[in-house]
Amino acid sequence: MHKLKICLLFGGVSPEHDVSLQTATSILKNIDREQFDVLPVGITSSGKWFLYEGPVNDIEDNSWENYPYLKPAFISPVANEGLLVFEAECIKKERIDCVFPALHGKDGEDGSIQGLCQLANLPCVGSLLTASAVSMDKSMTKAVVNGLGIRQADFILVLESEFSRHPEKIVKRVVDHFDFPVFVKPAGTGSSVGISKVKSEGELESAIMLAFEYDSRVLIEEFFNGREIEVAVLGNDDPLVSVCGEIVPGDEFYTYDDKYINGVSVAHIPADIPQETSDNIREAARRIYEANGCAGLSRVDFFVHKHTGEICFNEINTLPGFTDISMYPKLFIYGGISYPEIITRLIHLAVKA
Ligand SMILES: Nc1ncnc2c1ncn2[C@@H]1O[C@H](COP(=O)(O)OP(=O)(O)O)[C@@H](O)[C@H]1O
Ligand SMILES: [Mg+2]
Repeated sequence: MHKLKICLLFGGVSPEHDVSLQTATSILKNIDREQFDVLPVGITSSGKWFLYEGPVNDIEDNSWENYPYLKPAFISPVANEGLLVFEAECIKKERIDCVFPALHGKDGEDGSIQGLCQLANLPCVGSLLTASAVSMDKSMTKAVVNGLGIRQADFILVLESEFSRHPEKIVKRVVDHFDFPVFVKPAGTGSSVGISKVKSEGELESAIMLAFEYDSRVLIEEFFNGREIEVAVLGNDDPLVSVCGEIVPGDEFYTYDDKYINGVSVAHIPADIPQETSDNIREAARRIYEANGCAGLSRVDFFVHKHTGEICFNEINTLPGFTDISMYPKLFIYGGISYPEIITRLIHLAVKA
């Protein structure tokens, strides 16, 4: 049988570099080697690409960067050649069948890599350029979801240029429009990087400045007092929608440390919510996935109000955390699809698309 050659990209320049190392390690340990040959390409935090043929166990702590035989590499944008180009003693080229971006956030999940694959006419796991870009930018997704009539947190979009000229005007707009607390978030990050829960007017300006470190577009959102419910979607047309899962954060909200460092947050699969709520969330997830034009996979996140039970869409992640103990795979593992099988399906979905 012809084995498909998969170029697995990991690391990357986004603040979620370390999360990507975990995702990639898990994929490399579980991908079906009978069906797939893997060429792992690591991207450093400064954006240098290397073909990495060293031990998988050196990826997670970033020591792969010290491997003595790293080969500078890149994916050629030339259409239909499907080439990974790398340096050994001389320039070498290896034909690849599919790119698997085990990347999260900026320049990995936001359409950049997907655009490169589009130029090369090379299959790429997950959503293509437009769906990736729209889903990564929380304010763009809000516009799409608004059109679907699905409830989401009210928000104000603040541009850095506007804020740097008249910060006091922005603060006044927020105070006039919302009660505290509010959430301040960069439009285009993930893993809670740059996000603050702001409890008073006095904390607002510094929270906005922090968010601008990550994006020149920042959202200020109404606080929604909800339980955190997540759904996984898998497929292109007529996708599979998983059961709902619940995250019970260990911190005051679901922060970066809570996600990856403290290990205090707890996941419940399936979420203990009424059947009707679960049905409505799953249906909303499918509609948002389709409206954003997603393909392959996404995790769609909601809140369910702690007192009223009302559903509120929060965000969609086109390349969600994907270790074998992450929420996305676990939701399908619960439904009987193993982790290696999810990887296989994702590659086939990309190659057939
Ligand atoms: N409007 C909101 N109301 C209440 N909690 C929120 C709100 N927005 C975000 N949060 C909290 O912050 C976390 C991270 O925000 P989110 O929008 O999911 O960003 P990220 O893409 O970084 O995961 C959420 O999981 C939730 O705990
Ligand atoms: Mg989130």
